Amino acid sequence: MSTTERTYIMVKPDGVQRGLVGKIIARFEERGYKLIALKLVQATEEHLENHYADLKGKAFFPGLIKYMASGPVVGMVWQGLDAVKTGRVMLGATNPLASPIGSIRGDYCLAVGRNICHGSDSVENAEKEIKLWFPEGVVQYTSALESWIFE
Ligand code: TYD
Repeated sequence: MSTTERTYIMVKPDGVQRGLVGKIIARFEERGYKLIALKLVQATEEHLENHYADLKGKAFFPGLIKYMASGPVVGMVWQGLDAVKTGRVMLGATNPLASPIGSIRGDYCLAVGRNICHGSDSVENAEKEIKLWFPEGVVQYTSALESWIFE
């Protein structure tokens, strides 16, 4: 755990189409995380198969790839204390029906196959995903707020 831990958060095509991008960004900003990369992109199936390589072979995999390629996604990198684990808590469970009210999935969606947002599940996977989606690198800058967020 460090104040510069990074996680890859992605608003999925349903989240973009439903106009939830701003709300999801606001939650991470308001919590105290720092945005260091952001892009709207129409991903190819090949790129998405790479992102979800660990799930190849699952019955839902083909449908997942089709859904994820069905429209643009918003990829972002958020930095701050415990970003990966806290990002997952902010997202809720994989199944929105098992997600607590107050979490992103618990507040905005119902179906596991339309769960509006992705978040890295480990620091190692976050680093892999950040490289995959932002091969150009992230943006380094100083935030005046940091001394008010961390000791
Ligand atoms: P997974 O990596 O297990 O969950 P998470 O996104 O919470 O890390 O699965 C990736 C995505 O695959 C998940 O967000 C939604 C989809 N999925 C299904 O469509 N059906 C399923 O039964 C599961 C487990 C996942």
